[in-house]
Amino acid sequence: MTTTIHSNTQPAWWKEAVVYQIYPASFLSTGSGSIPGWGDIRGVINKLDYLKHLGVDIVWLSPIFNSPQVDMGYDISDYKDIDPRYGSLEDVDDLIKGLKARGMRFMVDLVVNHTSDQHAWFLNSRSSKSAAKRDWYIWQPPKYDTEGKRKPPNNWSMILGEANSAWTWDEETQEYYLALFTPEQPDLNWRNPEVREAVHDVLRFWLDRGASGFRMDVINLISKVEGYPDAEVVDPSVPYQPGQKYFANGPHLHEYLQDINAKVLSHYDTITVGEMPFVHDETEIIKVVGATRKELNMIFIFDLVDIDNIPGSFRLTLHPWQPTEIRRIITKYQRLMLDKDGWNSIFIENHDNPRSVSRYCDDSDAFRALGAKLLCLMQTTLAGTLYVYQGEELGMRNLRPEVAPEQYKDIESINYWRKMNALHPDSPGDLKGARPVLQRKARDHARTPVQWSAEANAGFCAEGTEPWMMVNTDYHTVNAEAQRVYESEEDLSVLQFWQRGLASRKDHRDCFVYGGFEGVGEEGGSVFAYKRISRGAGGEAFVTVLNFSGGEVEWMVPERVRMEKWVTGTYGKKAPDLALEGTVKLRPWEGVLGMCAA
Ligand code: GLC
Repeated sequence: MTTTIHSNTQPAWWKEAVVYQIYPASFLSTGSGSIPGWGDIRGVINKLDYLKHLGVDIVWLSPIFNSPQVDMGYDISDYKDIDPRYGSLEDVDDLIKGLKARGMRFMVDLVVNHTSDQHAWFLNSRSSKSAAKRDWYIWQPPKYDTEGKRKPPNNWSMILGEANSAWTWDEETQEYYLALFTPEQPDLNWRNPEVREAVHDVLRFWLDRGASGFRMDVINLISKVEGYPDAEVVDPSVPYQPGQKYFANGPHLHEYLQDINAKVLSHYDTITVGEMPFVHDETEIIKVVGATRKELNMIFIFDLVDIDNIPGSFRLTLHPWQPTEIRRIITKYQRLMLDKDGWNSIFIENHDNPRSVSRYCDDSDAFRALGAKLLCLMQTTLAGTLYVYQGEELGMRNLRPEVAPEQYKDIESINYWRKMNALHPDSPGDLKGARPVLQRKARDHARTPVQWSAEANAGFCAEGTEPWMMVNTDYHTVNAEAQRVYESEEDLSVLQFWQRGLASRKDHRDCFVYGGFEGVGEEGGSVFAYKRISRGAGGEAFVTVLNFSGGEVEWMVPERVRMEKWVTGTYGKKAPDLALEGTVKLRPWEGVLGMCAA
């Protein structure tokens, strides 16, 4: 039994905002950075009018700071300077100016669970056991097995695709350091107050420069369980195991977040979103995003993007799933935030996940645009702050299966492929399913250059310049320029559909951003339908009906839903065969939005 709940939270700019994530390397290359074929900050500045027109309020840039780029900038060697391949601090100042001139804001990607191993802090830390910053990172003496062979302090495995330990041996000082992602990304020791102060200083630096907030990278990993206990064995065939139980949402997380809030954020007007993998517990989530908690505005919860992972494992696994799980997951978090006065982030794509139309729908030529519009209709009619990932608004899709794994560029894909080759030398080709895993889940799919036009390199970089990452082969038909051409109301492009969806979300913000949420219709099957009801008496109400399947299905308009008119849908504005009551026939990947009595 579902009941309608009305949010009692206060309106705020960061709740109504549409955030657009830019992966700078792949956005637009103007040639102003130091490496040809890489996207740059000037490229972002060039596209501000495009973003404004789309309906974007905040631009979040994945890391642009000095970095050896082992993990595409998520390994930072200087938080206060810009990697020359992207441009300079002056370019960022210009970007902020350009955003402000258009009433938009800038969000910084704050990566402070770890630094690069080339950061001055770590170079000092590893220089000797008595170095001033030794304790800024997590150092442990080795353990020894019964034969006296040296082994890491525990059995945690590295996160980014490797079969290795999360601990790296340092020959020089004869200790291990913790590096959860890759050896080049050592974890900071947040127990040390100097580390926390140094992080606060980074936040202040960017806020004072004009940033309006932060996306905080894997922020729930900053506190680890003391003693570093061994993880439970989930895969007995490998020596190292996922240890998230001991490093995600650890004992001091809330204290550290409240400290950031009290000392820094409360002195500015900001938006904060914490990336929080591995957490599903409602109480724990509300502790971070509850309106009275003074921690973060919202977090990225992973349930939807982990839908096809083997439970308890890291990303590069495949697990069957049903459309009903989309309904279950979304309903759970919509209701949680309304019930417990928290706040949601709405997202389905980012730089760490495959393209959503390829993953949740059908990306064949016949259905790609319909699926992309279906996901747009869903996201633009849910409660929370909306995040759009570059190219999502064009319905960009995954790399084609013909692309050989050797052409993938991401460190996670490379490590995983290497690991699987070593583990299964006797089954080359498929490597026990490794190839399909990469074809469906690699992060590379989201990192191909944005397809601006049908020109050379999809208009991403100049003709004759080789893009750092291959352009997807479909750019002749799937590109922004082509999608700007207006055909008819029945034939809106994915881009036009997103632009309309974002505008309508703002026009009806009381309903879509702040309103109540109620799942309607039968559970089970491929249809996910819900009602959104604006706050206050006499407000509006809408019903969204989404067919997550490539087949025709019938949907019974529930008696409690008094449908007044159909407003829009993935097949066009007018949907003549849609009854206002009784049975509605939904075509493949059809999504419709209707207005109904509140
Ligand atoms: C986050 C980032 C991802 C990166 C990891 C380590 O999950 O989104 O790209 O590899 O953190 O920084």
